[in-house]
Amino acid sequence: MNKKTEQDIMEKLVSLCKQRGFIFPSSEIYGGLQGFWDFGPLGVELKNNIKKSWWKRFVQMRSDVVGLDSTIITNPTVWEKSGHIGGFSDKLVECKKCHHRFKADDFTSNAKCPDCKGEFTGERNFNTMFKTFVGPVENSSTTAYLRPETAQNIFVNFDTVRAAMRTKIPFGIAQIGKSFRNEITPGNFIFRSREFEQMELEYFVNPKEDKKWFEEWVNQSMQWFIDLGIDKNNLRKYEQKGKELAHYAKETIDIEYNFPFSSHGACPPVLWHGRRGSASGGDKGFAELMGISNRTDHDLKAHGFTYKDEVTKEEFIPYVIEPSVGVERAALAFLLDAYTEIEGGRTTTTDSNKEKEVVLKLHKDLAPYKVAILPLSKKENLTELALEIYDSLKSKHMVMYDQVASIGRRYRRQDEIGTPYCVTVDFDSLEDKAVTVRDRDTMEQERISIAELAKYINKKLES
Ligand code: GAP
Repeated sequence: MNKKTEQDIMEKLVSLCKQRGFIFPSSEIYGGLQGFWDFGPLGVELKNNIKKSWWKRFVQMRSDVVGLDSTIITNPTVWEKSGHIGGFSDKLVECKKCHHRFKADDFTSNAKCPDCKGEFTGERNFNTMFKTFVGPVENSSTTAYLRPETAQNIFVNFDTVRAAMRTKIPFGIAQIGKSFRNEITPGNFIFRSREFEQMELEYFVNPKEDKKWFEEWVNQSMQWFIDLGIDKNNLRKYEQKGKELAHYAKETIDIEYNFPFSSHGACPPVLWHGRRGSASGGDKGFAELMGISNRTDHDLKAHGFTYKDEVTKEEFIPYVIEPSVGVERAALAFLLDAYTEIEGGRTTTTDSNKEKEVVLKLHKDLAPYKVAILPLSKKENLTELALEIYDSLKSKHMVMYDQVASIGRRYRRQDEIGTPYCVTVDFDSLEDKAVTVRDRDTMEQERISIAELAKYINKKLES
């Protein structure tokens, strides 16, 4: 098996994602819009599964974390207090000739415009928050912002959530939702977009215990990726140093993934979020997948919160440990890690023999469809039975029904979208009341009685 031997893996993945309904450029019929992506029928399932898995691990399974779903647009004072209005910016240079704009840190001081060789202006700060207006009047008093991170909405709800849930430190508030950044250089497919979703958890601790909890959240976060099938060798920790650290951060560890591109240059260090999205030390490949920061008491202090321990009567401003990851960036890492090419093919049906095959070895929890029902022929009696089987499984799982093309082609279609199990309904099924279940990764086939099928599939998907 040749996994990722080719340089153009990104191109292949982008093409697969489009053809198979994972990800398309937004508003493509009008030329698209740079940094905006739509998630198709399979992409939305993948994203939902990533979010479900994260929520289950870090909210449902923990008695010390509760959830929140807050608004994208808030009172702008939130962003004033947090410092985003003053400082959520990248350094930008503009070409004096063609007026194209670039991130300043991509270039040395004597660099020329890569598009027209024109001279650059001096550096200036560019606030990457998107602005809008609330209500019918458009002026400075009605200006509002689309949130650039979900975290601030958690901080401003600190007391409300605590009062409602009677939570005591240490505890966390988790949120999944859209964030918006007017990135100067979006790119590398969905790695850096202008509209994306974040899964963020703000864990409030006694400042005396920040180190212990920081380590705990780094380990927990790393383990989540490994448990969802990412190859350990493609992950590493990178500790931010000196100027790389955001101004609020005492300590930040990025979990980096070995992407098949260098994000260095495309996203150099920025003023606000340290080395957001960049590859460490110029290494090709490894780039930020997620970050875990010790944000100290910076945010709660900025919004004026404090905390009193009911038992010890100790009063303090809690420190915040923040694991934060983008859903789309995680999706890209999961897709890349799962993408497997098999030279010469592995199926033996005549029409698929010897061709290169693609298998998306996604973890079962992430696979958009869990089962495909494939009747061997379109004959009515087989279709009827196959549809009955489809109906018996669909309330519990995402099940696809496919009766078009040869069985070999249909297996390959399912392999390409990562469906873990294919159920073939053949003419014997009418007699022996059994079907063949094929495993995506091993290609092993088992004959299972239809009466036992739901139980069998549930067990397989749970294991
Ligand atoms: N609240 C902290 C925060 O937002 P960040 O390092 O700027 O920190 C956290 O972002 C994570 O969000 C990143 O590690 C990445 O996974 C994701 N992310 C950030 N900017 C992104 C973008 N423009 N496109 C896609 N994902 C992004």
